Amino acid sequence: MSAEVQIVDHPMVQHKLTLLRQTETGTKNFREYLREIGWFLGMESLKDLPLTDKAIETPVAPMTGKEIAGKKLALISILRAGDGLLAPLLDIVPTAKIGQIGLARNEETLQPYKYSFKMPERMDQRLAVVIDPMLATGGSAIYAVNALKEIGVKKIKFICLVAAPEGVKALSDAHPDVQITTAAVDDRLTDIGYITPGLGDAGDRIFGTN
Ligand code: URA
Repeated sequence: MSAEVQIVDHPMVQHKLTLLRQTETGTKNFREYLREIGWFLGMESLKDLPLTDKAIETPVAPMTGKEIAGKKLALISILRAGDGLLAPLLDIVPTAKIGQIGLARNEETLQPYKYSFKMPERMDQRLAVVIDPMLATGGSAIYAVNALKEIGVKKIKFICLVAAPEGVKALSDAHPDVQITTAAVDDRLTDIGYITPGLGDAGDRIFGTN
């Protein structure tokens, strides 16, 4: 079994992604493009949510509409760049609870560890949607999914903006049950772990740091 990988190839997404990637795109416009693309990513990722019938009345006639059924949702941001995708996902699911995972690397062992792990309650009953704009080596995503499974989360999706083939393979191999949604799978990773052609450091571009 390998993970489902959704590439959102809508022309407007690809157009905005090209604008967003460019070096001359400043913080304000970067955030706006990320928010707009994030709506499409979120909609695509969540398109298999189960529906249930709901009887309503329009001003013209009664009808049977649909409403979302099933598990409650938690958005899990991998700090800090993941926060850049919170706004569009909250636009789509305003009632979602939010969890945060902060990861750092031990300078000696080079192993990742979590310096922050704040989760909503009853995570075992929620759909967890992990968000991080860049799926590079896959190390952070795998760590985050492992940590969520350890606390009993049963259904997990992953949303990013740009992925490297190496990251898609690593996450998919480690967690074939986790659906991956992205706007692009780029060429490869550079020697220092950047996605190329990519967009640079997503955190810096969202927060306006360098
Ligand atoms: N994280 C980033 O922000 N950019 C990359 O290219 C890879 C990881």
